[in-house]
Amino acid sequence: MTDFDHIEKVGVIGGGLMGSGITEVTARGGLSTIVVEVTEEAAQAARERVEGSLRKAEKRGKISAEDVDATLERIVFTTELERLADRDLVVEAASEREDVKLGLFERLGTILEQDDAVLTSNTSSIPIVKLGAVSGRADRVMGVHFFNPAPVMQLVELIPSLTTGEATKARMQHFVTEKLGKQPIEATDRAGFVVNSLLVPYLLSAIRMYEAGYASAEDIDKGMVLGCGHPMGPLALSDLIGLDTIRAIGVSMYDEFKEPLYSPPPLLDRMVDAGLLGKKSGHGFYAY
Ligand code: CAA
Ligand code: NAD
Repeated sequence: MTDFDHIEKVGVIGGGLMGSGITEVTARGGLSTIVVEVTEEAAQAARERVEGSLRKAEKRGKISAEDVDATLERIVFTTELERLADRDLVVEAASEREDVKLGLFERLGTILEQDDAVLTSNTSSIPIVKLGAVSGRADRVMGVHFFNPAPVMQLVELIPSLTTGEATKARMQHFVTEKLGKQPIEATDRAGFVVNSLLVPYLLSAIRMYEAGYASAEDIDKGMVLGCGHPMGPLALSDLIGLDTIRAIGVSMYDEFKEPLYSPPPLLDRMVDAGLLGKKSGHGFYAY
């Protein structure tokens, strides 16, 4: 029988917005974490993001300097996927591109040495069943979807696919709740799961509204913050998520359901083509 507590060594693929946040969560939870990036520069940027976030928490008095050092010591940054061979759990958080994720899952299927290692994706919208199929170990593959910023947001969506095994589901439920202290909900393997199915059409509608000249970006956002009590408006939230990521999620959801409200508006396409990706590139609907 699987030992539910047997997850001590974690791998995170991609050290961008989400990968660095997830790394902060797992390392603060006491777990050895190896982060894989594409280049040395990207690996260094990931290290700086994690350290910067921990130092900010230290300044706010939420973590001691000793705990920051101990957390950083648990993390290794590398460009070699093979370093993940001995991991109990891998969380894939690379860019929202199906070709990239399929390539990674295919390689990971041969790299992971432990028979019961679990392979998860933080994808927002790509079918989990496809990732399982190319890995050759589909019963130990599932969606584990964190929210941005991962150290702050309590929710994790758990997405078993048609081929995910019951033991994998139970282990991830236990891991997310007991080891990470997050609150899971279970969703079906359909593009967007629960939260993005509701959130992304709303964000795309706000972008269409701005594109059509209904109101300024500031007023659209102010409307939803002051009128509906949201912590931030839809255009500021789009900038936080990343416009390339929102566009990719919209495309996957449109491919799946053919609903016009999921289709990215032309302004979003143009902004992504121009490299205006939101907060992470320094410019989106706002300048940072
Ligand atoms: N890392 C760690 N901690 C962070 C953080 C980060 N990146 N950003 C904020 N925090 C912490 C702060 O330290 C602070 O903690 P304390 O109150 O304990 O001191 C707390 O969060 C609040 O931060 P701030 O006071 O700086 O800022 P804020 O009150 O404006 O909150 C926010 C910032 C948490 C981002 C808030 O605006 C918010 O909740 N926004 C909505 C975020 C959201 O909707 N996320 C979901 C996106 S959709 C998604 O993730 C799915 C997908 O697939 C696209
Ligand atoms: P990001 O653009 O900030 O980071 C992606 C990182 O992946 C980059 O640093 C890139 O260098 C790296 N990468 C690309 N290909 C790689 C490969 N083959 N191997 C290793 N690293 C690789 O994107 P993000 O916002 O962190 O999103 C990552 C994943 O998380 C996506 O699937 C996205 O849909 C999902 N997600 C994003 C959010 C959000 O709000 N941004 C929220 C929840 C889930």
